[in-house]
This record gives sequence, structure tokens and C-alpha cells, in this order.
Amino acid sequence: MKNNIQYIAHPCKQISGHIRVPGDKSISHRSIMLGSIAEGVTRVSGFLEGDDALATLEAFRAMGVQIDGPEQGEVTIHGVGLHGLEKPANPLDLGNSGTSMRLLSGLLCGQPFDVEMGGDSSLSSRPMRRVTEPLAKMGANIETTQEGTPPLKVKGGSALNGIEYEMPVASAQVKSSILLAGLYATGKTCVTEPAPTRDHTERMLLGFGYPVERMGATACVEAGGKLTATTIDIPADISSATFFMIAAAIGKESEIHLLHVGINETRIGIINILRLMGADIAISNEKVVGGEPVADICVRSSQLRGIDIPTDQVPLAIDEFPAIFIAAACARGETRLRGAEELRVKESDRIQVMADGLKILGVDARPTEDGMIINGRDGFEGGEVESHGDHRIAMSFAIASLRAKAPITINNCANVATSFPGFDSLANSCGLEIKVTH
Ligand code: S3P
Repeated sequence: MKNNIQYIAHPCKQISGHIRVPGDKSISHRSIMLGSIAEGVTRVSGFLEGDDALATLEAFRAMGVQIDGPEQGEVTIHGVGLHGLEKPANPLDLGNSGTSMRLLSGLLCGQPFDVEMGGDSSLSSRPMRRVTEPLAKMGANIETTQEGTPPLKVKGGSALNGIEYEMPVASAQVKSSILLAGLYATGKTCVTEPAPTRDHTERMLLGFGYPVERMGATACVEAGGKLTATTIDIPADISSATFFMIAAAIGKESEIHLLHVGINETRIGIINILRLMGADIAISNEKVVGGEPVADICVRSSQLRGIDIPTDQVPLAIDEFPAIFIAAACARGETRLRGAEELRVKESDRIQVMADGLKILGVDARPTEDGMIINGRDGFEGGEVESHGDHRIAMSFAIASLRAKAPITINNCANVATSFPGFDSLANSCGLEIKVTH
């Protein structure tokens, strides 16, 4: 049984320091996938040694790719080319990782062999038709359960055709899945998104020398190219940095410096939203590393104010809402989120689970179908909340301790290791007081 870790986050006042949070999860997944189907040896640094990215790494090892490491974030991938993957001996276990499963669905439906993919109880209840339906239109054959959930059975040897697909939801995972299938399809594969979503797949394909046409909301690929091995320096994950940004914003007399953080414009909804709430955020040392913009981010305490979160920022901050709800609970006035129904199908139902926990901590939080209305107050009561095995929920309630009057006990925190191994010790080194009990 894995989910047996409890955090007890004791009230603390202040957070400070210069820290580098672990590598970007989205980019880490993609570095393994594209490095594996490239020709030659790809060297990766800054790789996230969290369970999700490691699940992708193990999946490619199981398909015959030699991968050395990770060793302090360094990974060497001996690429086998677009047609060099081998049938794995067993079903692929992707743990908690929706990104692994959705992107692999696209990549694997173009292979000559059958594969089965499964995961933990959270992943096993997540919707997969959003990828299997467009992939079926391309000619793929992927079986789900009757509910459209994992396990997935991908039949190999299907001839794929390119499609023009308008995505009903703004999802980078769906976009990426279809583009990866497009590498194996005849003709052109184009995906149009209803709103901008993270574009790491497009950038990284280009970094491997694979042509991607990008026109406004549409990205297209054609088969027949090849990926050439490269080096990848993965920036720190802005989604992990978020917990420290918000901790500093709500803490008293706090100042945190987050180093070498990825600030790709499809990921900076958190900066835009916090600035609208009145946060004091300074960005410095901006540069482009391996096709991805990075910078240092400094956040200092400030009195936040409630806002109507602009809906165009929702896909750009999709993973950050559990933490944003904590910021909203400390803001003066009301914060309203709309247009975020996707939060209900993440690692947990992040609207319901956060609303339940916030209420326990004394916050007036009203969940709606597609968002939440939160009335700010001066801090949190203590109490015992459930993370439902969702890493971002666990970390969000942990940072609430900066404004808590009594300890916050958070259950089921082992999955923090999916995206942020070492979170508790890094947080404690900056001033939090999280005790971990097993
Ligand atoms: C991801 C895309 C997002 C995000 C997830 C990682 C990716 O999901 O929530 O954590 O790496 O492409 P959606 O694109 O489905 O919203």
C-alpha cells in the first residue's frame, strides 16, 4: 500500500530562500518519448525524478530502449528511431500518470505490435475517449472499458491516416497524442485547439529537427521525417514553483527566489492570475534554453485581492488551481473561477476535493459545476483534510499552514512524489514545518 503518508503542516509565518524546484514534468515525459524514437544518443539534464516521468521512462525501457540514469537529473537515451520500438513483455504500468497514457496512446497506435496500458485507481477512472476517439478516426484500434477508462488495449499494425481535428477541449495531452500518431500516418495531421495549451511537444519536435507547421491555433505534422538526437536542459517546473510562489505571497514578510523556472507563455497563467490578485512578482535573468524560455522568479508577501479569474487564463494555469484556491482564501474579497470543468477529471475532482478541505479549514468555498467561488478570510483554522491521493491537493493544503491558526493534517500524500519528490524537505528548508508520518 503506497498511499500511507500523512503530512502535519504546523502553523508557520514566513518563507524565504533561493531554491530550484525539480524539473518540468511535461517536458520530462516528452524528452523520454522523443529521445526514444530519435536516431542517436540524446542527453537530458534537469530530468524530473518523480514517479510520473519515471513511469514513462520505464515504459520505454520495457519497449527495448536503452536509457541510462536518471542520475541527479541526467538521463542518456539511446534512441531506436521511429520504427525501432519493441513489443513489451508485459502490460505497461503508468501509475498515476495521465500524460504518459494519453501521449503513449498516440505514439503506440502507430507501432506494429499490441500493447496494454494500465495504472493506479486514479488513472483507471480518468477519461480516455478524448484521445481514443480522434485516434480511431485516424484508423487506430484502441479498446477502453465501457466507461471509456483504462486499461487501454492498443492493437498494433493499423494503417493510420492523417486527420484535421478540432479539439472540443483545450488539452495539450490530446493535441500531443494526435501529433505523435501523425508521425506514423499517411498525409498531414492537423490539430486545432479551442484555446492555447502548453506547446512543449511542438517545440521539442522542432528541437529534434522534425518539421511542425504552426499557424495560429493549428499545429500540423506529416510522416516521413526523422528525429535526430539532441541535448535537452529541462527547466524547473513552474507548476511546482507555484506552491512556493503562493506560500511567499500569503506568508508574512516572505521573499522567495525560484531559480531557472520554465516560463513558456503557455504555462504562465499562474503569474498572470497572481499579478491580477495583487501579488508582488519580479522576473529576472530571462533566457531561452533549448527552445524553452526560463527565468528566475522572486515573490514577496502582499495583501492579495479577490478577482474574477479570466477564463482565457484557465488552460494556462490548469494544474495550478488547487494552490490558487489557497491564495484566494487569503485574499480580500471574493474570487470566482469559471470555465474550469476540466478540474473535475484531473488526478482527483479538484473542485470538490478542494472545496471540501477548504470548508474544513473554515473557508467559505462554494463549488460550482465549472469552478469555485471563494470568500477570502484572515487565515485558516486547523483541521484534517483529505488529498485523495492527489499530489497537488496535498501540497496546496501544506502551504496553507503559512496562514493557519492550528496544525493542518493532510491524508494520503504519497503521490506528492509523482511530481515533486523532496517537497517536504525543500519546503521545510524555506520555513515551513511539515512533519511527515508513515
Ligand atoms: C499536461 C497537460 C495538462 C496538465 C497535465 C500535463 C501535458 O493536461 O493538466 O498535468 O504534459 O501535456 P490537459 O492537457 O489534459 O489539460
